[in-house]
Amino acid sequence: MLSPVKRFVAWRRWPQALVMLGGSLLAAGLISCGTVERAVVAPPGIPGATYVGSKACEECHEQITRGFATAAHARLLAPGPNAKEMGCESCHGPGSKHAESGDRLTILNPKKSPDLCFQCHLDKRGEFNLPHSHPVLAGRIACSDCHDPHQGALMAKAGLFAQGGNALCLNCHAAQHGPFVFEHEALRDGCTTCHRPHGSVNAKLLTQRNQTLCLKCHFQQQQSGGQLLIGGMDHTSFVRQGTCWSGGCHEAVHGSQVNSSLRY
Ligand code: HEC
Ligand code: HEC
Ligand code: HEC
Ligand code: HEC
Ligand code: HEC
Ligand code: HEC
Ligand code: HEC
Repeated sequence: MLSPVKRFVAWRRWPQALVMLGGSLLAAGLISCGTVERAVVAPPGIPGATYVGSKACEECHEQITRGFATAAHARLLAPGPNAKEMGCESCHGPGSKHAESGDRLTILNPKKSPDLCFQCHLDKRGEFNLPHSHPVLAGRIACSDCHDPHQGALMAKAGLFAQGGNALCLNCHAAQHGPFVFEHEALRDGCTTCHRPHGSVNAKLLTQRNQTLCLKCHFQQQQSGGQLLIGGMDHTSFVRQGTCWSGGCHEAVHGSQVNSSLRY
């Protein structure tokens, strides 16, 4: 749980709410979610409004509500004597006023801003602040480009996260899309075998910055000292020259049209 001071700071990071709703956010009656053990869980507030539960949204937002039962956020609970499941409202704020009026100014729409997600997923703010990251903080791509907030037991956008997420990633990264004459079987395990989806200390969002990235699959028992056998060939002098994918070696790491050793 956050101290009141830290909570206030967390609220201040949410300018939309301040501008749109005005008034005292601290008076909004903060609650936290019972199912969570993370350090920060402060759902948004709307002055004067109370939590009514996801069922109240059904009447007017039938389509969104229909798929919601499968979403991870549908299971969040507010503690306390009047606890209701707070699914929709964990992101859109307490909905009593809006459910009466249908007025869009009485409900929050996080749209492109990741700030709301960071309220509960504080560690993700850190990941997107790493030296190399998907440009979410710059507003060029949104959490909801990869995660559907409204449905899915799977973590990322429905359907696109099949095959370890390749389809999701290839949606935006056409250059890595095959078919290749010489495919690299590593891609069958998914893009996230080698890339972090959010951010990394390593360039190109890589999970490791050197040959350990490749050796986790290409390691082989060494027969004699002073040699580094990879694929049956002594690589001792090669690995001194740089990474496996630089220095004129296996640059076509996602697959090659010309060379079985993954060169251009
Ligand atoms: C009485 C009908 C009604 C109910 C009940 C209702 N809504 Fe709405 N909602 C609307 C209408 C109408 C709009 C579109 C308003 C507009 O475009 O001006 C809307 C828009 C929204 C928006 C988009 C706001 C924006 O800035 O564009 C969100 C988010 C939303 N509703 C969430 C909810 C949630 C969460 C609940 C349940 C707590 C809920 N609604 C219950 C009628 C309703
Ligand atoms: C995990 C957070 C989260 C939860 C939970 C959530 N939403 Fe949303 N909702 C969002 C985000 C993010 C957007 C903006 C999506 C976008 O357009 O990129 C949004 C947009 C909307 C909109 C506007 C859609 C539009 O086309 O403009 C409505 C209406 C809405 N949500 C209703 C609901 C209802 C009803 C529920 C519960 C059944 C719900 N939301 C649960 C995050 C959430
Ligand atoms: C009120 C707090 C809260 C907010 C706001 C919130 N989340 Fe979550 N989220 C959670 C909790 C708690 C879980 C873990 C649920 C579980 O393990 O069952 C979770 C789980 C997730 C997961 C993993 C789902 C899975 O299948 O394991 C993703 C992805 C996610 N959230 C993305 C988002 C995004 C994107 C937003 C903003 C649109 C957001 N969350 C807003 C509390 C929140
Ligand atoms: C480029 C696509 C992409 C974007 C943008 C993205 N995610 Fe993710 N996220 C993923 C993928 C893929 C995974 C699954 C990681 C894995 O299985 O190794 C994931 C996993 C998660 C998880 C659950 C596992 C974990 O690491 O805790 C949460 C929570 C989450 N993301 C939240 C967010 C939030 C919040 C944002 C926006 C601030 C966001 N994500 C933006 C692709 C993305
Ligand atoms: C919604 C579109 C979108 C999706 C989906 C997406 N990306 Fe990206 N990706 C981007 C953008 C935009 C950049 C930043 C490119 C730039 O700065 O020029 C980027 C950058 C990258 C980079 C770094 C490129 C560089 O030159 O440094 C890698 C690696 C990457 N993405 C891998 C992935 C992986 C793996 C996935 C799936 C988990 C994924 N992307 C999903 C849009 C996307
Ligand atoms: C076997 C490990 C591996 C897998 C699996 C992998 N990549 Fe990469 N990827 C790399 C390496 C290594 C680089 C860095 C290449 C460089 O710096 O020249 C890279 C670079 C990138 C870049 C930056 C553009 C570039 O060529 O420099 C993007 C975008 C990218 N990968 C997307 C993807 C996508 C999408 C997938 C899944 C379809 C994927 N990667 C799977 C290892 C991998
Ligand atoms: C997830 C496991 C995995 C990772 C990680 C991986 N590979 Fe592979 N790679 C394979 C498999 C499987 C094959 C096909 C079987 C074989 O030839 O060993 C292959 C084949 C290759 C080949 C073709 C060998 C030939 O001539 O037939 C090269 C070159 C290669 N990988 C380079 C790399 C490089 C460079 C990296 C690091 C960027 C890497 N691999 C990371 C699994 C992986």
